[in-house]
Amino acid sequence: MNMNRPFFLHLQYLLLILVLLQLFISLAVVGASADGGEFTFNGFSGNDLTMDGEASVTNGLLELTSGRAQLKGHAFYTFPLNFTSDAVPNRSSIPSFSTTFVFAIIGQYDDLSGHGLAFVLSSTKELFTALPAQFLGLLNTWNNGNASNRLLAIELDTIQNSEFGDIDDNHIGIDINSLESLESHTTGYYTSDGEFHNLSLVSRKPMQVWVDYDSNQSMLNVTIAPYFLSSTKPSRPLLSYIFNSSAVLPNTAVYAGFSSATGTLNSKHYVLGWSFNLNGEAAALNYSALSVETIQELAQQVPAPAPRNHKILICKVLLPIAAISILVSAALVKVYVKRRLQVRRTKVEWQEYGPPSFTYKNLLAATNGFSDKMLLGRGGFGSVYKGVLPISKHMAAIKRVSPESRQGMKEFVAEIIILGHLRHRNLVQLLGYCRHKQQLLLVYDYMPNGSLDSYLHTQDHRTTNLCWAQRFHIIKGIASGLFYLHEDWEQVVIHRDIKTSNVLLDGEMNARLGDFGLARSHDHGADAHTTHVAGTWGYIAPELARLEKATKATDIFAFGVLMMEVTCARRPFWVNNTDGEPLALADWVLAAWQGGSITDAVDPRLDDYVDEEIELVLKLGLLCSHPSPNARSFTRLVMQYLQRDAPLPSDFQPNSLMINGVGQDEMHDQRAMSESQWTGLIALLV
Ligand SMILES: *[C@@H]1O[C@H](CO)[C@@H](O)[C@H](O)[C@H]1NC(C)=O
Ligand SMILES: *[C@@H]1O[C@H](CO)[C@@H](O)[C@H](O)[C@H]1NC(C)=O
Ligand SMILES: *[C@@H]1O[C@H](CO)[C@@H](O)[C@H](O)[C@H]1NC(C)=O
Ligand SMILES: *[C@@H]1O[C@H](CO)[C@@H](O)[C@H](O)[C@H]1NC(C)=O
Ligand SMILES: *[C@@H]1O[C@H](CO)[C@@H](O)[C@H](O)[C@H]1NC(C)=O
Ligand SMILES: *[C@@H]1O[C@H](CO)[C@@H](O)[C@H](O)[C@H]1NC(C)=O
Ligand SMILES: *[C@@H]1O[C@H](CO)[C@@H](O)[C@H](O)[C@H]1NC(C)=O
Ligand SMILES: *[C@@H]1O[C@H](CO)[C@@H](O)[C@H](O)[C@H]1NC(C)=O
Ligand SMILES: *[C@@H]1O[C@H](CO)[C@@H](O)[C@H](O)[C@H]1NC(C)=O
Ligand SMILES: *[C@@H]1O[C@H](CO)[C@@H](O)[C@H](O)[C@H]1NC(C)=O
Repeated sequence: MNMNRPFFLHLQYLLLILVLLQLFISLAVVGASADGGEFTFNGFSGNDLTMDGEASVTNGLLELTSGRAQLKGHAFYTFPLNFTSDAVPNRSSIPSFSTTFVFAIIGQYDDLSGHGLAFVLSSTKELFTALPAQFLGLLNTWNNGNASNRLLAIELDTIQNSEFGDIDDNHIGIDINSLESLESHTTGYYTSDGEFHNLSLVSRKPMQVWVDYDSNQSMLNVTIAPYFLSSTKPSRPLLSYIFNSSAVLPNTAVYAGFSSATGTLNSKHYVLGWSFNLNGEAAALNYSALSVETIQELAQQVPAPAPRNHKILICKVLLPIAAISILVSAALVKVYVKRRLQVRRTKVEWQEYGPPSFTYKNLLAATNGFSDKMLLGRGGFGSVYKGVLPISKHMAAIKRVSPESRQGMKEFVAEIIILGHLRHRNLVQLLGYCRHKQQLLLVYDYMPNGSLDSYLHTQDHRTTNLCWAQRFHIIKGIASGLFYLHEDWEQVVIHRDIKTSNVLLDGEMNARLGDFGLARSHDHGADAHTTHVAGTWGYIAPELARLEKATKATDIFAFGVLMMEVTCARRPFWVNNTDGEPLALADWVLAAWQGGSITDAVDPRLDDYVDEEIELVLKLGLLCSHPSPNARSFTRLVMQYLQRDAPLPSDFQPNSLMINGVGQDEMHDQRAMSESQWTGLIALLV
C-alpha cells in the first residue's frame, strides 16, 4: 500500500505540470492572463471559458446569443474565484473586486433589440434551469428572488418588463438574487462637468462597462461609457449601491461570467474584451487587440430597420380612408388608436411588420412538408403537426391557423407577440411564429404525453393510467397556470377556452395549459374586451352565453367544470342511455352531495384516493361553476383552497348553490332561462 503513495504523488505532479503547461500555452495564444483572481481577455479564443446554450467564440468575439429567438447563452471564467479574505496576498479583510468589459448588442433593428445581457457573479456556472427572454438566462419563475441563488448581476436590459419593475427599455440595473433591480438607471454617463449623456444599449456600437466593489465602503459602482480608443472611465459612476457582498456571494467559489437571452426579438450579444481583478482595479484592456472592426461589419450587415407602425398606419390605412371620407377615417382612427394603445406598452407590436421568428422553409422541413404522418390532431382552429426544428433539434408542436380576414390576422399576430412573453411551468410555451400567405404557424413546445382528455375519456372504462395523485397534481398545476394568467403576469390574460383537451401533459405528467388562440389580454384594472362568445359548450358560463363578455370569472367557471371532469371522468354533458335525458356534470355532482356522499360521483376506476381531497375538489368545482359570477371563487383563493392554505367557506352547502350570492337580476334571468343553469345550457347545445 505504502509503495503506491509516491507513485500517486508523481502522477499528481505530472498532471499538474501538464495542466500548467496547457494553461501556459493557452495564455500565450489568447493573450489572457490569470493569477490569484486576476485575468484579462483582450479578445477571446474560447480557452478558460465554460460556455453553454448559444454562447460561442468567433473571430475573437464572445458571442452570447447568435440571433435566434427565445434562447440563452452563458460564458463563465472556468475557474472558481476564491473570495476568501486571505486567498489573495495583501488584501483587506473582506473581498473587493473590479471588472471591466467591452460589449456590443446587434439587434434586428437599430432602435429595438431584446433582451440584453448581464455580467454575473454566481455560486454556480450551471444556470441550466434559467429562462430566456426577460429572465436574461439568469433565473426562472420559481427561484426569482430566492436568497439561496447567491447571485449578483449587472443587467444591461433592452426591454421594459413591468413584471420586474423595469424603468425603461434601455437601462442598467443591479440585481441581487432577483430580476427586480435594487438600483437602476437609464443607460448613460456623466462627464466631468456633471452633465448626463444618454447612451443607447441597442445602438450596435461597442461600449465599455466598469463594475467595482469596495468592501471597505461595501459599495458597488457601475459605470458605462462609449467605446473609444483609449477610453477613460468617467469619474462619476452611473449607479452606486451599498450592500455586503459576503452576505450575498459564497466565500470560496464564485464564478464570474456573462449571461444573455433573446425573446421574440432575435438579437446578437457580444463581449469583445474582459478583465477582472479580485485585489485592486481591473487591468485596462488593450483596445487595439479587440475585434472592433468585426463588430462594425456585423452592425452594417443587419438589414435596415423596418418602418415603424405610425408610418404604415398613415400610408396604408389613413390616406386611402381619408380620401373616401374624412368622417369615417376619424372614427376609424379613434378606434384604431384606442386599440393600439392597449398593447403599446409591450413595445413589440411593430413586429407584425418585421420578420417572423421562424421561416416557413424551416417549418416545412421540420414537419416533412406538413405530412399526415406528423399530424398530431385537428381542432377548431386548425391542424397541429409534430416537428423537429432544424437548427436546435428541438421537438415542437406546430399549429397551422388560417385567420378569416386580414384584420383577423393582424389581431392574431399582435396577440401572439404578447403571448410569446408568457412564461410559466404550467403553460405550453409559445416558441415563435411564422406568417405564410394567409396562414399563421404557431410553434409551441412539444408535449410528449398528449392532452388530458385522452386519459379521462378512454374507450376502456375499466382501467386508467391516471391515479388520483396525478390528477390532483394536474388540477393544482392548471390552477397555478391560471393564477399566473389572471393575477401574476403584467397584464390580465383571460384564457377563454379552458377544457381538458386544452390541457397538455409534459414528460413528467405536469399539466400545461395550451391554446391561447382565443385569449385576449388587457391591462390590469381595465375592462375586458367585449367580443363574440368564444369557448366550448359545457364550459361556458351562463353570463358569458348571455352577455358575451369573457372575464376571469368565466375562466373560473370553466375551470370548475374541468375539476369535476377530472375527478369524475365524465364529460360536462352527456345523455342518459336509459331514458335519453340530458345530464350536466355539475347536477350529477350536486345530486351526489345532496344524496349524502359527494364522493359517490368519483370516477369508479379510482381506488387510491383521499376522501378529503375528492371532497375538496368536487365542492370547489361546484363553487367555481356557480351560476352567479359573484359567488365564484377568485383565482388566488382557488389556489389557496387546493393547497389547503384556506378552508372552503363553511356556508357553502348544496342549497346555497341556487340561492345565496345570486342577485335579483341573475335570479330572474336564470328562471327565465331554465330551472337549472346547467341543464338550461343543453337547450343551446342540441
Ligand atoms: C480559498 O483560499 C483559502 C485561503 O487561502 C483556502 O483555504 C481555500 O481552500 C481556498 N478555496 C478554494 C476553493 O480554492
Ligand atoms: C504585500 O505587501 C508587502 C508589504 O507591504 C509587500 O512587500 C508585498 O510585495 C505585497 N505583496 C503583493 C503580492 O502585493
Ligand atoms: C429557495 O431555494 C431553496 C433551494 O433551492 C429552497 O429550498 C427554498 O424553498 C426556496 N425558498 C423559497 C421561498 O422559494
Ligand atoms: C435621455 O433619454 C430619456 C429617455 O429616453 C429622455 O427622457 C431624456 O430626455 C434623454 N436625455 C438626454 C440628455 O438626451
Ligand atoms: C464609487 O463611487 C463613489 C463616488 O460616487 C466613490 O466615492 C467610491 O470610491 C467609488 N467606489 C469604487 C469601489 O469605485
Ligand atoms: C480597505 O481598508 C484597509 C485598511 O484601512 C486598506 O488597507 C485597504 O487598502 C482598503 N481597501 C480598499 C479596496 O480600499
Ligand atoms: C457581511 O456579511 C458576512 C456574512 O453574512 C458577515 O460575517 C459580516 O459581518 C458582514 N459584514 C458587514 C460589514 O456587515
Ligand atoms: C495590444 O495589442 C496589439 C495587437 O494585438 C499588440 O501589438 C500590442 O503589443 C498590445 N499592447 C500591449 C501593451 O499589450
Ligand atoms: C409520459 O411521457 C414520458 C416521457 O415521454 C413517458 O416515459 C411516460 O411513460 C409517459 N406517461 C404516460 C402516462 O404516458
Ligand atoms: C338514467 O336514467 C335512469 C332512469 O331514469 C336512472 O335510473 C339512471 O340513474 C340514470 N343514469 C344516470 C347516469 O343518470
